[in-house]
Amino acid sequence: MDRVLAALRAAAEPTRLRILCLCAKGELTVTELTQILGQSQPRVSRHLKEMCSAGLLERHQEGSWAFFNVAADGAISRLALSLLEQIPENDDALAQDLRRLEAVRALRAEAARAYFRENAEEWDRIRSFHVDDRQVEAALLSLVSGSPDTRLLDIGTGTGRMLQLLSPVVGQAIGVDSSREMLSVARANLAEPDFANCSVRQADMSQLPWPNASFDLVIAHMVLHFTDDPAAAVAEAARVLRPDGRLLIVDFASHDIEELRAKFAHRRLGFRQQEVDIWCSESALSIRSVKALEGDPLTVMIWESRKLPTVDHRPELIGDTVATWARGATL
Ligand SMILES: C[S@@+](CC[C@H](N)C(=O)[O-])C[C@H]1O[C@@H](n2cnc3c(N)ncnc32)[C@H](O)[C@@H]1O
Repeated sequence: MDRVLAALRAAAEPTRLRILCLCAKGELTVTELTQILGQSQPRVSRHLKEMCSAGLLERHQEGSWAFFNVAADGAISRLALSLLEQIPENDDALAQDLRRLEAVRALRAEAARAYFRENAEEWDRIRSFHVDDRQVEAALLSLVSGSPDTRLLDIGTGTGRMLQLLSPVVGQAIGVDSSREMLSVARANLAEPDFANCSVRQADMSQLPWPNASFDLVIAHMVLHFTDDPAAAVAEAARVLRPDGRLLIVDFASHDIEELRAKFAHRRLGFRQQEVDIWCSESALSIRSVKALEGDPLTVMIWESRKLPTVDHRPELIGDTVATWARGATL
């Protein structure tokens, strides 16, 4: 009861209800909220602090920026959503806030588009080396049978394309990427109401900021070739996967196009079946299917695996610790 009362108190103020409505439309920074609400930064920050302590909002730090969104899980999250349902969208103050939110998003989207424009040529050149993305996406969709309860993690989300593709078939879809610029592009791409169940975070694939067994489905689409330790990245993906959850790895079959190293920062020139087998078995993953989409000169592979139930009930393992443990684990 105390927690509910604290949450009700934290919401019982006009600016705070406005903040709750705005954060329900997507993640926002303090600066963006300040621009929309027309109030001073210290004042907005104070409101945000109270709302986070009461569990109405969640905050995550990305470099020097903090993002705020409505709490995703639990009783206080449900309370926040039911409060939001009581507020009509044509309320004068709210309608004005939503117009300002659109303007803020347009600025954000333009900055993201500018970044992407500068890099688009390189991306298109890589695309010309392999099968059409649509073929890969159709193959992926045929493998995913999600439900409203499915929690998806997209590792190395880039522009958020995988989140867009899979958001209709899962409950919650979260993308991580180490690049702040890519996350800006993803945020702009996911600003539509259709993608309200999607969010993104800055994180490195070798140290995912979630407890063990947090996700039902994890995808690593064209990202493992950027790491010099893919085994550790697979172990980390397996750690956050619940028993019987699925990992989909989409990457190139082993190739010899050195240019991808020099020009596109690829560390690894695709992967051999044997090495993927080893990473999976070391991480308690059982490979269920392997699909090869042949292109010229690159073949795109889709490895589908399931997390085996383990008897290990040790406390949370993160980053290097889990990679080390997973390498030594017996199945
Ligand atoms: C080729 S893009 C693929 C994006 C997306 N998965 C897709 O296929 O549309 C690779 C992404 O991986 C991200 N990335 C590279 N190294 C990473 C790391 N160590 N941790 C997290 N993301 C990483 C890059 O920033 C980039 O956005």
